[in-house]
Amino acid sequence: MNSKIAAILARKGQSPISQITAYDYPTARLVDEAGIDMILVGDSLGMVMLGFPDTTHVTLDHMLHHGEAVARAVKHALVVLDMPIHTYDTPEQAVQTAKRMMQTGVDAVKLEGGADKEAHIRAIVDAGIPVQAHIGLLPQKIKEDGGYSMKGKSEEDAARLMADMQAVVRAGAFSIVIECTRHRVAAEITRACPVPTIGIGSGHGTCDGEVVVFHDLVGGYPWFVPSFASPKANVAAEITRAVTEWEKELRMPIAPPQAPEA
Ligand code: KIV
Repeated sequence: MNSKIAAILARKGQSPISQITAYDYPTARLVDEAGIDMILVGDSLGMVMLGFPDTTHVTLDHMLHHGEAVARAVKHALVVLDMPIHTYDTPEQAVQTAKRMMQTGVDAVKLEGGADKEAHIRAIVDAGIPVQAHIGLLPQKIKEDGGYSMKGKSEEDAARLMADMQAVVRAGAFSIVIECTRHRVAAEITRACPVPTIGIGSGHGTCDGEVVVFHDLVGGYPWFVPSFASPKANVAAEITRAVTEWEKELRMPIAPPQAPEA
């Protein structure tokens, strides 16, 4: 087994695992040099990098382009590349896409879905490619779901999520993102799950680790901030300040050169 994957598996129930998104060389290099455990080249890049309204517009070419940039930058962290919508509709297509994605130099792929994706994950894992699964709120399904909403609210939905976890574990996923799921349910799934769970919007301390979208963490995308985000910086305001200051200096009158004294 890949030593980076083994190291993540060994962290189950130990110290919390950190995962941050990055989509370009400088960000990935900074995040890696800061000592983050895993970097996700998420299809959230469709919104925070490309200006689409949601992730359903992201293509394989977009992901390959950004995956290559991140893989060039990272020396230590485990890099996961997100499979975009409709690139893993069948197990065969999933394997083909995952193989192409691994050529970018990343360590693993991620896909959304639970029991409905068991065969797809198993096929990718059988091809020797590590898979991070993603259950709970699935951004690629927002059109079918009618928007973003918390999962695991009813006992029935909580049981469905538990079954999703069991299916992706059976299929061989090395870790599972649990997005926007009732905190109690995320904690129950984590306790029952043999591989590390990574939460987002599912409560603090409920999972074995957390994943955060880089722009939510540094305040880099002020036009939309999820309710669960707690930015640690205000990079957008700093960019505006630097640009404005530079422009002000540019427009300042230049003093005419002094005539040499006679
Ligand atoms: O694309 C992404 O950034 C993700 C995270 C929200 C987990 O899938």
